[in-house]
Amino acid sequence: MDILGVIKRDHNEVKALFKEYESLGPNAKASRAKLAKKIMEELVKHDEAEEQTLYALLKERARGSEERIKILEAFEEHTMASELIAKLKKLETPDEEFMAKFQVLIESVQHHIKDEEGNVHKIAREELDKDELNELAPKFEEAKKSVPVTR
Ligand SMILES: [Fe+2]
Ligand SMILES: [Fe+2]
Repeated sequence: MDILGVIKRDHNEVKALFKEYESLGPNAKASRAKLAKKIMEELVKHDEAEEQTLYALLKERARGSEERIKILEAFEEHTMASELIAKLKKLETPDEEFMAKFQVLIESVQHHIKDEEGNVHKIAREELDKDELNELAPKFEEAKKSVPVTR
């Protein structure tokens, strides 16, 4: 599997976790808190690994201004997600404010995933060759493992 396949696998996993989160009832406070924490950890690792591998290379390779703007837009969406996660970590889980913010996180990540698989992966297929895409897959996995998870 190349890096784009690995990224899509992660996206599908996190989308399934979103569904699970949204299916929880109002009394499932402990499960909600636990699941939210797991999702945030996954997102932090995934985003950081993307930035260190695929995004870093695409930043160098993107030739056109339009391509560079798409990459920068995706970076910006990562920044927004990590700022939101930092705020969420300071709140009581899962009070009303937490739940409202977490819903915004879910919606913005869903939007980001769509953009990423559409725009960023398209640029990657144009600018990187098959070998590069394959070689980036284990680097992505390694990068994910090296991201410190704050608890
Ligand atoms: Fe991303
Ligand atoms: Fe992603």
